[in-house]
Amino acid sequence: MNSGSARKGVYIVVGASRGLGASLVGRCLEKGLEVIGIGRTDENAVVSIADWRKTGRFKYVRTDIADPSSVNIMKSIAKLYEGNPVCVIFNAAVIEPDVEKNGNLMFDVFKKVNRTGINGFTHVLEAFESYLTSYGGMLVGISSISAWVPPIGGNKVSYPASKAYLDMALRSLRLLWGRRVHVMIVHLGHIGGSGSWLVPKYDDVAQKIIGSTLSSRPPENICMSTFYCFTYRVMRMLPDRVISSTVGIMKGFLNYISGEKALL
Ligand SMILES: NC(=O)c1ccc[n+]([C@@H]2O[C@H](COP(=O)([O-])OP(=O)(O)OC[C@H]3O[C@@H](n4cnc5c(N)ncnc54)[C@H](OP(=O)(O)O)[C@@H]3O)[C@@H](O)[C@H]2O)c1
Repeated sequence: MNSGSARKGVYIVVGASRGLGASLVGRCLEKGLEVIGIGRTDENAVVSIADWRKTGRFKYVRTDIADPSSVNIMKSIAKLYEGNPVCVIFNAAVIEPDVEKNGNLMFDVFKKVNRTGINGFTHVLEAFESYLTSYGGMLVGISSISAWVPPIGGNKVSYPASKAYLDMALRSLRLLWGRRVHVMIVHLGHIGGSGSWLVPKYDDVAQKIIGSTLSSRPPENICMSTFYCFTYRVMRMLPDRVISSTVGIMKGFLNYISGEKALL
């Protein structure tokens, strides 16, 4: 496979055990693709695994990408497909608040988020870099609008920072690799749940991402959901002090509304 298309390739979904990752696996299998799913969860606890296996095109590899030993495990996956196209989707993340109510950082969570988002991404690159640059293919990074502007809730520091790191690493790789490897960055707002215009379902997001990787001219960037992406793009142009005052006003308004409701 040359860069620019992941058609008929092997897809490696890093962070495949649940949520968007599980939907990405499902969509790939529906399209007739061969898929390797990676996660720490025991395979018996992965909800759809029996259905995925029935296709005969799915393998699950249990490994913690934060652990350096995962590099060789992931390299051995690549060896199975030597010379064949590969699309690596880096979807893994730890999405947990790392700020206490009193404003102090919770360093255990802070490190956990970085171990997956930064060390884990480094290990994935170490495992697949030479494969991708030798045989072509695609690297897709699942990022977040939090990479542009700190989350409005204000309860996360390491998560947006790890996504900003991912964004810049991917953009730098895009320049470094040129036409040899297609790099796609996906910015997501709030996703999951039963789906609405504001919060799209995992399956719909996965459909869009996999469809885009298979297109004859895959985009470099995808933004979903539109409302959040638009709002954060506008906010990105504002100085941090203005954002912080705006967020303060919004929080005050929300508190007022909930207080009013409580009185009724
Ligand atoms: N949900 C949202 O509203 C939202 C918004 C913006 C961006 N995003 C991004 O979209 C992606 C998917 O989000 P999601 O809601 O589906 O998250 P999720 O349900 O928490 O799933 C995260 C996945 O990452 C895997 N993972 C985490 N650490 C890992 C590690 N060290 N080694 C291997 N696998 C690891 C988890 O598997 P195991 O636990 O089995 O290891 C799981 O499969 C993430 O990159 C997230 O940042 C989500």
